[in-house]
This record gives sequence, C-alpha cells and structure tokens, in this order.
Amino acid sequence: MKITADSRALVTGGASGLGLALVRRLAERGARVLATDIHDERPAELDGVAAEYRRLDVTSDVDWSAARDWVVENWSGLDLLFNNAGVAAGGRIELSEMDQWQWIVDINLLGVARGCRTFTPLLKEARAGHIVNTSSAAGLVHPPRMSEYTAVKAGVVALSETLRYELRPYDVDVSVVCPTFFRTNLTSSMRGKDESAQASAAKLIDGSKRTADDIAVIVLAQVEKGTHIILTDREGRVAYAAKRFLRPVYDNQMFKAGARMARKD
Ligand SMILES: NC(=O)c1ccc[n+]([C@@H]2O[C@H](COP(=O)([O-])OP(=O)(O)OC[C@H]3O[C@@H](n4cnc5c(N)ncnc54)[C@H](O)[C@@H]3O)[C@@H](O)[C@H]2O)c1
Repeated sequence: MKITADSRALVTGGASGLGLALVRRLAERGARVLATDIHDERPAELDGVAAEYRRLDVTSDVDWSAARDWVVENWSGLDLLFNNAGVAAGGRIELSEMDQWQWIVDINLLGVARGCRTFTPLLKEARAGHIVNTSSAAGLVHPPRMSEYTAVKAGVVALSETLRYELRPYDVDVSVVCPTFFRTNLTSSMRGKDESAQASAAKLIDGSKRTADDIAVIVLAQVEKGTHIILTDREGRVAYAAKRFLRPVYDNQMFKAGARMARKD
C-alpha cells in the first residue's frame, strides 16, 4: 500500500521511540495521523507534528472502542493501524513474578490483539488496509533469560501470520516488525527482579547505534512493499536465517550464551 496524503493512520505508543518516529514520518508524508499513548494530555514530544492525539491505553477495551468511534466519525475509516506500544521485562525465569507476566502479556500481546480485533471489521468492510504489528527480533529467535519478552513477542509474530492468511481474501495486509536493539525510552519501562539481565538489556538498547527514526524509515518502506516479516538490521537477519537454515549452529550459539550468563551467577 502506498502511503499518500489520503492515508489515515493510527499509531499506538506514539509519544516516544519508534511510535513517535512513525508518527513524525507519516505526518511528513502528508498522511492523516492519530497518535495515541497512555498520557491524558497531548505530550510535548508531539509539538510541531501535524498529528492528532488521543489517549489510548492498549489494555483498555473502552479506549479502543472510543478510538474506533473517533476514526469513524472523523475519517470514515482507517488505512494503516500500527500496533506498536510495548514495554520490556526479562531475566531468569525463577525471578519473574506472575504479576509481571500478566502486565507484559496485557500490553505487548493482548494490546496488539485488541487493536486487531477492534479495527479488522472496518478494514474488511473497506476491503483495504494494512495492520503493522511491532514485535521484535526476540519474537523470531529466543535467547536465554528473557522469557516474558520472547514469549509475548513470538505471540505477536504468530498472531500476525494468522491474520495475514485470514485477511488476504478481504485485501487487508499484515506486517510484523522485528528489530533487534535501537535507542528509545524502552529501558525506562523495564520491570523485574533480575538486575543483571536488565542491566545487560539496557546497555544494548541505550548503546545501540540505531535510532528509532532509522527503524521507522525502514518500516514504512517495507510496509509499502508489502513485506510480511520486517527485519530492520543485519543482526536480526543473520540470527533468523541461522535458526531456519543452520539450526545446529544457532543452538550452539544460544547454548553458549546461556552458559556465559550462568558463569556469572
Ligand atoms: N527499543 C528496542 O530496542 C526495541 C527492539 C525491538 C522491539 N521493540 C518494540 O518497539 C515498540 C516500541 O518501543 P520503543 O522501543 O519505542 O519504547 P518507548 O518506551 O520509547 O515507547 C513505547 C511507548 O509505548 C507506550 N506505552 C506503554 N504502555 C502502554 C499502554 N498500556 N498503552 C499505550 N501505550 C503504552 C509508552 O508510553 C511509550 O510512549 C515496543 O513494542 C517494543 O517492544 C523495541
């Protein structure tokens, strides 16, 4: 789907990181954009950006219904739905607590499911549209000591694949975005008791040479091409190819990573 001045796009988690970068790039292209996030008031990050803002907590069915009503009333439909909002957690399984699992499932997996089920009827009726779900490279390859995150992100990959086949007869396309690490505020959302695992993840996010804008540019170009699994960097492409085509090599690397971490305990 070409992104044009006629495109109508909703982005969740649009006040920071990748969501904000997508909002900015879409607005620059002249698209009509509804940026959404958990804040009640329009965040200062959106100053000067030609986008509408509404609060949409992705864990709230009420907020999703209200967003759909707004879209119908103001735009009579939607072309692009970016289910992007997310948080981070990780560490050794025995240190993860069930309320942490419930928290991350509710936002990172059910938040995406709520978005898809809320807007699919509109897209099916229009026989057009593109759903773009943000997963992670961790949704495709599953390193040790990040079980909550890999589990929910793999769920987003699975949901996206199912919907791709389900919605094709209605001319609705689905992509899933799978980056490795890039610099955003994601570290600030991190929860968990495994401090060493969290410190390692924070180092990788905060120290990445890639910005959210780098990722947004790739995402929009790949959405226009209709790519289903959007791998945004070399590390992700290599790791995913190794898992599919060189499984013993992949297993060996992952076992080594697990052993390296265990030596530090
Ligand atoms: N940064 C990375 O290295 C990286 C790598 C792979 C995937 N991702 C994914 O990219 C997506 C965007 O994250 P980011 O890195 O830009 O982080 P970020 O923290 O900068 O942005 C995430 C946004 O989501 C919002 N959010 C959190 N909970 C919400 C809720 N319940 N309802 C609505 N909005 C909510 C936050 O307020 C924030 O604005 C996430 O799904 C994340 O898992 C990030």
